[in-house]
Amino acid sequence: MIKKGNLYFPTKEFKKRALIKSAAIYKTAAKNPIKFWEKLAKELLWQKKWKKVFSHRPPYFKWFVGGKLNITENCLERNLEKRKNKVAFIWEPEPIAAPNGRASPSKTGREERERYFTYYDLYREVNKLANALKKLGVKKGDRVGIYLPMIPEAIISMLACARIGAIHTVVFSAFSPQALRIRLQDTTAKILITADGYYRKGKIINLKQNADKGVKSTKVKKVIVVKRAKNEIPWQRKRDLWWSDLIKNEKEFCKPAAMDSEDTLFILYTSGSTGKPKGIVHTTGGYMVQANFTGKWIFDLKEDDIFWSMADVGWITGHTYSCYGPLLTGTTFLIFEGAPDWPTPDRWCKIIEKYGVTTFYTAPTAIRMFEKYGIKLLKRYTFNTLQILGSVGEPIDTAAWQWYFKEVGREKCPIVDTWWQTETGGILITSLPGIGPFKPAFTGLPFPGLRVNILDEKGKSLPVHKEGNLVILPPFAPGLLRGVYKNPKKYLETYWSQYGKRIYFTSDTAYRDKNGLIRIVGRVDDVIKVAGHRLTTGELESAIAKHPDITESAVVGIPDEIKGEVPVAFVVSHKKRKAETIAKEVREQVRKEIGPIALPKKVYLVEDIPKTRSGKIMRRILKRLFTKEKLGDLSTLANPESVKKIKEVIVK
Ligand code: WTA
Repeated sequence: MIKKGNLYFPTKEFKKRALIKSAAIYKTAAKNPIKFWEKLAKELLWQKKWKKVFSHRPPYFKWFVGGKLNITENCLERNLEKRKNKVAFIWEPEPIAAPNGRASPSKTGREERERYFTYYDLYREVNKLANALKKLGVKKGDRVGIYLPMIPEAIISMLACARIGAIHTVVFSAFSPQALRIRLQDTTAKILITADGYYRKGKIINLKQNADKGVKSTKVKKVIVVKRAKNEIPWQRKRDLWWSDLIKNEKEFCKPAAMDSEDTLFILYTSGSTGKPKGIVHTTGGYMVQANFTGKWIFDLKEDDIFWSMADVGWITGHTYSCYGPLLTGTTFLIFEGAPDWPTPDRWCKIIEKYGVTTFYTAPTAIRMFEKYGIKLLKRYTFNTLQILGSVGEPIDTAAWQWYFKEVGREKCPIVDTWWQTETGGILITSLPGIGPFKPAFTGLPFPGLRVNILDEKGKSLPVHKEGNLVILPPFAPGLLRGVYKNPKKYLETYWSQYGKRIYFTSDTAYRDKNGLIRIVGRVDDVIKVAGHRLTTGELESAIAKHPDITESAVVGIPDEIKGEVPVAFVVSHKKRKAETIAKEVREQVRKEIGPIALPKKVYLVEDIPKTRSGKIMRRILKRLFTKEKLGDLSTLANPESVKKIKEVIVK
């Protein structure tokens, strides 16, 4: 990389290899974004061409109107012509295979081998499951729940649903049964695909047991179970089916459903401001075009690349860049079942080396964790196959950026710091690797064709260096959400009311530098990013409220060295309870309602929570108790004395 001032640019050699190397693309796209996307869409396979590229009836919009397609024909058939026996993806299990024949470090004493799926293998597996689902009565438009860890069957399941036009709802495997239930109830899914168990840091997690609890009081009639960890599981003879039995005799071809461009492809839930998560609706045609081209250009995916995105399929990053994006581009990608620092802190390095990974995509929280283990560990690795590094999920600070750039990328890899959201379906802001520029802590330029702005509260456009609300302007991007499942009011309120129905409000604040590079500052709503996972303080508070002894609670995200942010909770009880016991119970409550990722770092039992005279909880003040910021004027509070008392509790 070439450094000019505080900016970095790709070298000539890098540029030569890159798919997109001329900044002219920005100009062409800006002239007519609709035409730009149309041209791209033509490179993909459509059963019937669209009549209109973009239509807009604020706050609703459509892309490729009237077009018919099936995304799996693009992920599979389209690749069979040239890449039939090319590896589509490699699965690396957690229990490590010891290549030198020595004992595996896995605590369970198991050793396993990676699995390779060629495009042809994947095609056959997807078709078989699609046929099996059909036999179970799954029809176009039906919702199917997928509660699977990072195993090949997760990808096969998503594609099998898409093949027959069923809508998949993937639920992160570390979510609690209660979190699973809410999603199954909201979608009224009749089928759930899960596994017996999976490995996490040497332990077997009994997923089936959680799934059984989660399907209670839902419409689920059949549970398909993948045999993964071979652990003992409860079984309901009439309801449960082994995956392997189900597909055994199925045909290797299933006719791809003709999907309308605007038919729903999947629903993915993200935390809402109350206890109820929002079902983000993504449709087929636009999402496909965006997943394909963002994947291809931002990660510069070429025929000989090995792309590894660490994201789990339970999150949007996993949907778009651990499944659809790389498959659409015909890339070989990697999925990994375990934690990147297990059984040794350099497991992730070993994986990069083992497969010669060329593009590595992870989150700042992982980067900070890698950094903490020390650079001595990295000296053993050359990382000479790496070409591009990616970051996603939260702002990456300058120190972490520099560390990643130097110690992992060895100063030769561009870092694509990719800004996007569950709602945007694919990456929307980042500099392109063959063009740049890259600047530590700045995510970069909007993707070609994307019109964004930074506005003040009144909607006035802000000049360089001034922080304000990041918004997206029409025609948006083809993959932007089309709705909140069964909740049009929420759709309108959350995204289209701050500045009216024509401007998409991201809930992020940002500013621009003089080169037009965008720096994301943070959320203006109650979303907190815990180790890159999206949670809301409101969601945690409603989980805590279910504890019978708790009258009131306030949750805030406080800075954390590794995880970026972590939740802490302040609780008030109407009963005389011991602080330690109640803290334990509150954490248990959160684990039960949401899952271990949301556990508050600390729970403080307090007498009172600071509030305004109108009764609004002042979370800002609670947060400042943990940062170096001044508390500010407390006179607006109805109960200013509560702050002093809370301070005492925290110090204890
Ligand atoms: C934050 C994840 C800074 C942002 C794909 C956004 C980022 C929220 C970045 C969406 C980035 C994501 N730099 N902040 N590169 N990427 N964010 O839905 O606040 O889990 O609104 O999607 O993550 O989180 P979500």
